[in-house]
Amino acid sequence: MAEMVRKSSADEILNHWILAVSCILLIITGFAFLFQMESVGSVFGGFNTMKTVHNWGGVIFSLSLLYSMRHYLKDAFEYDADDRQWFKVAGGYLSKNVKVPPMGKYNPGQKLYYLAILLAGIAISLSGFGIWLMKENATVMLLSHLVHNVAFIIFVIAVPVHIYLSTLANPGTFRIMVSGTLPLETAKKKYPKWMKAAGKM
Ligand code: HEM
Repeated sequence: MAEMVRKSSADEILNHWILAVSCILLIITGFAFLFQMESVGSVFGGFNTMKTVHNWGGVIFSLSLLYSMRHYLKDAFEYDADDRQWFKVAGGYLSKNVKVPPMGKYNPGQKLYYLAILLAGIAISLSGFGIWLMKENATVMLLSHLVHNVAFIIFVIAVPVHIYLSTLANPGTFRIMVSGTLPLETAKKKYPKWMKAAGKM
């Protein structure tokens, strides 16, 4: 049997699923509020219950987002010369004729994706609590609605791209979010600097 290496710990896998499921639930219910989609509302037993689900889903999402810092924040702030070169060749996504530099545990696209989710996530959570709990303050309501909608647009663009890149576009990646492991040979090819640092090559 192929030797495996662990990329994600058990608590990272669990937290990612909590983050993903709560985020997708919030996006679906958020869309339904925005466009007054009665059919989606009826799945939750009406808009009032859907609002309760959205609010408490937001609490779960916020806690999960805070916990995710433990897994990704340090890496997301570290960029070396190879990472800078990765930006210059656009990660190799736009042309087959460029040389993609060797990568560590996460590529710069993933690191920036994390920072975007973290910042937009903090903004959408704080503004969500503003809308939920500070109804009597007109200024807070106005600002919160603005921030909530702008952050929502970021999520609606970034999350589908992330799901596509983690599944169809890069076969074999999805299993990391299920089992946390991948074959050593694959890891050596995809993340050579991480494997070198771990003493595996
Ligand atoms: C449901 C479909 C999803 C799938 C299949 C998926 C898959 C993955 C995979 C495989 C990784 C690890 C990448 C690696 O180690 O190479 C990852 C990381 C991550 N996921 Fe997801 N994910 C999904 C949904 C979400 C959602 C909805 C969010 C929204 C907040 C999210 C946020 C993140 C973050 C912040 C990371 C760490 C940074 C990164 O690797 O880009 N994921 N995901």
